Amino acid sequence: MAEDFHIIQGTKEEIYQALIPKIKALIEGEPDLVPNLANITADLKEQFGWLWVGFYLVKPFGSAQDSELVLGPFQGPIACTRIKKGRGVCGTSWQKAETLIVADVEKFPGHIACSSLSRSEIVVPIIRNNQVVGVLDVDSELLGQFDETDKKFLEQIILEISIS
Ligand code: SME
Repeated sequence: MAEDFHIIQGTKEEIYQALIPKIKALIEGEPDLVPNLANITADLKEQFGWLWVGFYLVKPFGSAQDSELVLGPFQGPIACTRIKKGRGVCGTSWQKAETLIVADVEKFPGHIACSSLSRSEIVVPIIRNNQVVGVLDVDSELLGQFDETDKKFLEQIILEISIS
């Protein structure tokens, strides 16, 4: 695979519309999850220049039938490795099984500050067979960076991922 990276120009909607088939082509034919998640984070980070883009995956831990979010492929500053259900924006998105848009992370009770530079955030749960199996987390250094357009298209991108 030889892929040159070209920044797509246009409105945010136009960028996403061009990015989605590009991401589909990027992960098509590769059955392994890690390289696909890694390439998606790289493509989103390069395209939008966000502070942090990455995945957390729901994984079992301990001897009990318990699970937590564990850091997966990401682009950006180092991040916390484990998040419990209901904690922070990621754990709340997991608990509620819904996308959360946080315009100002300082106003989100329990927000986990992996980077002091983060100002706003969107977290999209990956739902398969009615279970949340992971989340896509995106952080920005700017307040109010994410809106319904990001929600709509990031949710579409998430649907392209084969994950069990
Ligand atoms: N801010 C997130 C934690 C993950 S980092 O942003 C990468 C949260 O509150 O869940």
